[in-house]
Amino acid sequence: MIKFGIIGTNWITKQFIEAAQSVGWQLTSVYSRKSVTAQQFAAQFGTAIDIYTDLSTFFAQGNFTVVYIASPNSLHFSQAKQALLAGKNVIVEKPACSNSAEMKSIIKLLRQHPNRYYFEAARHFHEPLFKTVTQQIKHFTTLQGANLTYMKYSSRYDAFLAGAEPNVFSLDFSGGALQDLGVYLAYNAISWFGYPQQATYYPYKLRNGIDGSGTVILNYTTFNVTLNLGKTANSYLPSEIYGLKEALVLDNPAELTSLTLMDEQQQSHLIAQAAPENPMLAEVRDFNEILTDPANLDNKQKMEDWLAVAVQVNRLLTHLRQTAGIKFPADELAEI
Ligand SMILES: NC(=O)c1ccc[n+]([C@@H]2O[C@H](COP(=O)([O-])OP(=O)(O)OC[C@H]3O[C@@H](n4cnc5c(N)ncnc54)[C@H](OP(=O)(O)O)[C@@H]3O)[C@@H](O)[C@H]2O)c1
Repeated sequence: MIKFGIIGTNWITKQFIEAAQSVGWQLTSVYSRKSVTAQQFAAQFGTAIDIYTDLSTFFAQGNFTVVYIASPNSLHFSQAKQALLAGKNVIVEKPACSNSAEMKSIIKLLRQHPNRYYFEAARHFHEPLFKTVTQQIKHFTTLQGANLTYMKYSSRYDAFLAGAEPNVFSLDFSGGALQDLGVYLAYNAISWFGYPQQATYYPYKLRNGIDGSGTVILNYTTFNVTLNLGKTANSYLPSEIYGLKEALVLDNPAELTSLTLMDEQQQSHLIAQAAPENPMLAEVRDFNEILTDPANLDNKQKMEDWLAVAVQVNRLLTHLRQTAGIKFPADELAEI
């Protein structure tokens, strides 16, 4: 049975724990900055859970082999690095790193410790419908681009409008719409169309310079892909991938539940629908398959393949953000 520890005590960690418990994992250790927060959080999941408020002690003494990290983005890198050095396998929330320099440092560490596993928790990438899209695109004789939209009004935006600076809207915490939601669309684009030849981000910046929303244009040899992303408004637009006379219609590229093909006669064919389930279950099943048989070479290869996509996503996000003039304090640290 896989024993795991967690960092971060918000709703997303609860969702992850429920998914992990459903495949038989045991939560043994909770880290929080405050003991009372950790205790209240752990109480929802059982009694035999150790509480830690010191990260080094958590990694040194915690009885677990896997850590799930769901802290603010800017902390992912240092916490994952600490975990890997302490001999733990890592599942880190998206975006795994603030920039390419951090990602390079993680890759170097993984090469030095080939038995460790490291996953970016890009939940939609593991869903069956994501793979169905990949297959459907292969049937297109001509590919003519896509318009992908993921815009959700953030529960933290009211606070931002009222003058506060929640982590997700903060440069200090490597936040912003591109990092938070654009990461999903970057996974879509790179998995389905490859790495673009050119990429430009047109952000709408908020009062502190963070991107609240924006449009990305990705140029490929024979087509363009447009990504619309934002945390300051809701969009109900479906997304589309264009063949010659046919088009694939996705209800939402990051929360994909329905995939339809519009044929050249403009007839609609439902290709696949997803049954409602915990959105993190698909990735947890994938991670479980690997972590329960870590010495299996096929499993090692799977992780390498996913990591290769994560590296490209990270490279694209770093390029888009930095060329749009959005600089994180983490970028300066990474340059040292
Ligand atoms: N996969 C998904 O669907 C999904 C959905 C939402 C979020 N996420 C990802 O999950 C991560 C966490 O997102 P979130 O919205 O939960 O973030 P958050 O609320 O800002 O912070 C998450 C946790 O980190 C700790 N924390 C908060 N502020 C901190 C600070 N200043 N310094 C150190 N620790 C701090 C808190 O835990 P303690 O108080 O216990 O220390 C908090 O519960 C992000 O990377 C986000 O992208 C993923």
